[in-house]
Amino acid sequence: MEQQQGGNQFVEPGKKTLTYDKYLKIHELLSLQEELSDPKEHDETLFIIIHQVYELWFKQILHETLRCQSLLDADVLLPALRSMRRIDAIQKVLIKQIDVLETMAPDEFNRFRSHLNPASGFQSHQFRVLEYKLGLKNRSYFKYYKHEPATIAKLEEVIHEPSLYDSFLRFLARKGFNTLTKLSEKPADHPHSYDEEVTQIFASIYQDHLQQHDLYSFLEALTDLDEQFILWRYRHMLMVERMIGSLSGTGGSLGAKYLATTLEKRLFPELWAARNTIGTRT
Ligand code: HEM
Repeated sequence: MEQQQGGNQFVEPGKKTLTYDKYLKIHELLSLQEELSDPKEHDETLFIIIHQVYELWFKQILHETLRCQSLLDADVLLPALRSMRRIDAIQKVLIKQIDVLETMAPDEFNRFRSHLNPASGFQSHQFRVLEYKLGLKNRSYFKYYKHEPATIAKLEEVIHEPSLYDSFLRFLARKGFNTLTKLSEKPADHPHSYDEEVTQIFASIYQDHLQQHDLYSFLEALTDLDEQFILWRYRHMLMVERMIGSLSGTGGSLGAKYLATTLEKRLFPELWAARNTIGTRT
């Protein structure tokens, strides 16, 4: 290998040089922001970029969720915990990004809002895949993709796959915990149904956290994931109210009022319920 002055010592002579732009497809990436307003509204660019950035992070969270599940399936808990930590770090970025969107004034948004109609966040299929992967399996959202058969096929596939929670409960069962009673009765495409026995198992792990530190850490990481998800929903709902008050959404829902109903969703209900019993156990 020849060392070039001021050049890259890792480039073999005669080999086509890979550049930053080529590797990352920067030109393609920067050509993907197509504003619809005419004349162009300044803030529409921000609106498009922020959604695209979210979708990229959703992609990375899904990528990491699959890694986490395959590590759990292979019975390696601590590397799976590292994936959970990465997901948590990304979720914090997702929440913080709302600050950027909130620099837009309601009237600046309204100047281009009509151009988006009827497109809506409801149609973010990656968000729905993420919900399904985290156990929130609800077919009622399929209707938002009726013009996209390929997306419906993808959602149909994912809704039948085991969720992250399923993988964790199966991992615990292989370690000797009785976590599969309800899970084994449930059809794969149904939402998780609450299991009191799992709550008691979690409470016992919390109680015994010094002896079961790795399991305890994983339970806390799952709780973080659930909490960050709710915090994103909450920040998004407030941001929506800040932009459009109590108006309906472009997807036809009651807007902020609909979003408020989603704050009730819990990914891992037994983790929250376990808190009720921890202090009462001897
Ligand atoms: C000015 C900015 C925004 C406004 C006014 C807004 C408004 C809304 C409204 C009203 C809904 C309810 C569905 C409907 O009727 O359309 C919704 C849902 C949604 N939005 Fe946004 N949104 C904004 C930015 C974002 C951003 C940046 C993302 C990031 C991807 C996002 C993702 C979603 C998702 C995933 C849903 C579905 C939530 C669920 O069903 O639980 N939104 N949005």
